[in-house]
Amino acid sequence: MSQTHPVLTKSAIRKLDIGNRLVLAPMSRASAQDDGVPTKNMANYYSEFAKGGYGLLIAEGAFTDNKFSQSYSNQPGMVTDEHQSGWREVTEKVKAHDGRIILQLIHAGALSQHVDRPHAPSAVRPQGNMLQGYGHKQGEYPIPEILSLQDVEEIKRGFLQASLRAQEAGFDGVEIHCANGYLLDQFLTDDTNKRDDQYGGSLENRIRLTCEIIRDARQNAPDDFIVGVRLSQAKANNSDYFWPNGIADAEIIFGSVANAGADYIHLASEKNGYAYHSYTKDNRNLTEYARELTGLPVIANGGMQDIELANSIIADSKADFVSIGKTAMINPDLPKKVASNNAVQDFTFDMFKFGVSIEAQQKWQVEAKN
Ligand SMILES: Cc1cc2nc3c(=O)[nH]c(=O)nc-3n(C[C@H](O)[C@H](O)[C@H](O)COP(=O)(O)O)c2cc1C
Repeated sequence: MSQTHPVLTKSAIRKLDIGNRLVLAPMSRASAQDDGVPTKNMANYYSEFAKGGYGLLIAEGAFTDNKFSQSYSNQPGMVTDEHQSGWREVTEKVKAHDGRIILQLIHAGALSQHVDRPHAPSAVRPQGNMLQGYGHKQGEYPIPEILSLQDVEEIKRGFLQASLRAQEAGFDGVEIHCANGYLLDQFLTDDTNKRDDQYGGSLENRIRLTCEIIRDARQNAPDDFIVGVRLSQAKANNSDYFWPNGIADAEIIFGSVANAGADYIHLASEKNGYAYHSYTKDNRNLTEYARELTGLPVIANGGMQDIELANSIIADSKADFVSIGKTAMINPDLPKKVASNNAVQDFTFDMFKFGVSIEAQQKWQVEAKN
């Protein structure tokens, strides 16, 4: 590959060499079997991104226990031996193309569109409506039930077990999801966390559960296994949310996850993109700040198919990697296109005409060709 683009230069996270700075962002495709077992089609899907030259793939959020964690129907899990074997096929196919792959681990909390009685830090009804295209439940979210301290311990065990299974399944690491309004972000956010125990109150208390999960995963992993974390200001059900105290909140959040042992920080900027949501309300750049504060590798996100922007972020040391979501879905070979100066196909929401699954995309692509 040509080395003229900063995004095409080599890098590393922990001991893992990574061929370029282009990362596949985690994207839920609701394409697993009904019991959450990843399919052969998913293995083929992920291997295409490795073949297409992405330095690192972050596989979609997998649920971590069989109690309250599952977000959507046909979401993959990492709870049973069958889940683990399904994911093993995915990692083997990716590795056959010399790919690197990390599994994201997620608990839905109050945003579950799957479980009968969603559980969350506090009994606060989530804003907005359930996402379309992800299972049969739609409309308003119910008021969740409050997690007991025993439930919290079980959640921690679920993340740890899932991380151990990810090691067995051949992943290069896990990414702990504390973003976009899901469970760990519900703990982080004062609007959704009204607890008066050690997990509520101060921001240090509200980030505690995420840190305990990171610490457990890190302490129970071999040296070459990566434990990253995903954070965001915006939420799936509130795309205009900003950390209320800007850089002061960022200092506590980034500092805490780094102290807990996170190997990288991935800052999601969904919907309105990097220029909007990777900045505080008073315009401080968060990816650059995370890097300076912690010294950890940072992954920037939000519209990174704009390669000029992505190149400048890497060249100006605002981040170490950029992750690409929607545009990657129709350009599994985007890194190769960038290297050969070929045009990248624009993403269109029409792609979800038949649904969000990989099979629905394939149907749409066949239709678009005819
Ligand atoms: C269909 C779809 C599914 C997604 N699923 C996840 C997910 O499982 N975990 C996550 O952290 N973010 C998820 N996201 C957010 C993306 O990782 C990414 O942050 C977002 O699309 C913005 O990046 P982009 O501008 O490159 O699309 C999803 C986004 C889309 C479009």
